[in-house]
Amino acid sequence: MMNSSKVHVLVLPYPAQGHINPMLQFCKRLVAKGVKTTFVNSVFISKSIPADPKSAINFETISDGHDEGGYAAAESPGAYLEKLATFGSKTLADLIRKLEDEGEPVQAVIYDSFLPWALDVAKQFGLVTAAFFTQTCAVNSIYYHVYHGLLPVPLSHSPISLPGLPLLQPKETPSFVYLPDSYPAFLHMLVNQFSNVDQADWVILNNFHKLEEDAVNWMAKLWRVITVGPTVPSIYLDKRLEDDIGYGINLFKPDSSLCLNWLNSQPKDSVVYVSFGSWTEIDVEQVEEIASALKESGFKFLWVVRAFEKEKLPSKFAEETSEKGLVVTWSPQLEVLAHESVACFVTHCGFNSVLEALSLGVPVVAAPQWTDQPTNAKFLADIWGVGVKADADERGIVRRETLVSCIRDIMEGEKGKQIKENAIEWKALAKEAIDDGGSSDKNIDEFVAGLAGQKA
Ligand code: UDX
Repeated sequence: MMNSSKVHVLVLPYPAQGHINPMLQFCKRLVAKGVKTTFVNSVFISKSIPADPKSAINFETISDGHDEGGYAAAESPGAYLEKLATFGSKTLADLIRKLEDEGEPVQAVIYDSFLPWALDVAKQFGLVTAAFFTQTCAVNSIYYHVYHGLLPVPLSHSPISLPGLPLLQPKETPSFVYLPDSYPAFLHMLVNQFSNVDQADWVILNNFHKLEEDAVNWMAKLWRVITVGPTVPSIYLDKRLEDDIGYGINLFKPDSSLCLNWLNSQPKDSVVYVSFGSWTEIDVEQVEEIASALKESGFKFLWVVRAFEKEKLPSKFAEETSEKGLVVTWSPQLEVLAHESVACFVTHCGFNSVLEALSLGVPVVAAPQWTDQPTNAKFLADIWGVGVKADADERGIVRRETLVSCIRDIMEGEKGKQIKENAIEWKALAKEAIDDGGSSDKNIDEFVAGLAGQKA
């Protein structure tokens, strides 16, 4: 371990579960290398999860302009992002000053690449800056090419060829790119990640080198790039950092003992786990199709249906299927994926879920919904070989027969055996990357040494 205790780093995620998890995990790795870290949540998020006083990480807040309701209280995505930038910039500057006044000055800011204004604030204070990209290098490359006008949006119908990436059909790009009118404010935010990244001292990627070797090598020609993943709590990678048994901040309360007791009573490799992450809203018709598929396929299942979506379930579904399955509103996902009874993960392909499935060797049925998920699904099925893709119909719904066939492919087909073998290989590579002396571990050392050098 390096002696870098004098370096104080501020880590600022976009305020959402899928961004807090990987950045907090990275923070824990920095702490393990002797760096002092301050993790910054929005006021709203910090109210829902009080900071752990025993944590080695210091917690502080900035305002997103919606201290009472967060994102849900905003009029529109565009209005939220605008306020986040305005209130965020001001309160981030206040926080940097406050830490200075308290004798805890910050030397570097690691900001979520969704928040390029944070780089501008850090530069005003002459701080070292690192952009942390939570999504895949492939997805980043697509937005980079859009930003520079090298990939015109709307896309034509032809496949897309970009350096370091496989040929992609338009529908294998992020939904904000192939449907640019769907969420223009989010498209703008994602493209805008590249507006000032040239000024960042470091670009940190939430993956590991072997996972996207060609794309990472391409990106490394542009910036000082390091891969630091998989950002999965170390206990699941057999690398035990102190107290590192979960991500640490849960915006929703998991039904942990219910899920784990139920899984404990199921045979090995018998359960299909279904979850669509923290942010995706599922169409009622899609919920019905999943419900029918789980009934028809006949396998045991554990299904996360978020509290606000429970009313979309067919009436009496839980009672009628109580012998076969369990429906919960939030699961301890890492423990579920690590459980020996779980054999298949039907996922929306949010990148944290993807990294977790790869790191724990669990084959997937990829049912992408929006944002980066279509690209992640393409990689899961066709490049990394750890899953099958459940294609949606022309209305964007994955039908029950497609889901049943995909689940059977994983649970009992010949194809499923090969996929399982691939998943086990990726699990070993993920562990290797983060093990002492592995590619990500060395990159984190390089980063910490660089910070110490830049400070000196
Ligand atoms: C969002 C985007 O949707 C995603 O596409 C992007 O890559 C990251 O940000 P989200 O939809 O929440 O994230 O999905 P995901 O990236 O999979 O993150 C969800 C996190 O919540 C995972 O770490 C998962 O372990 C956790 N989770 C999910 C639980 O702990 N319990 C659950 O029941 C469901």
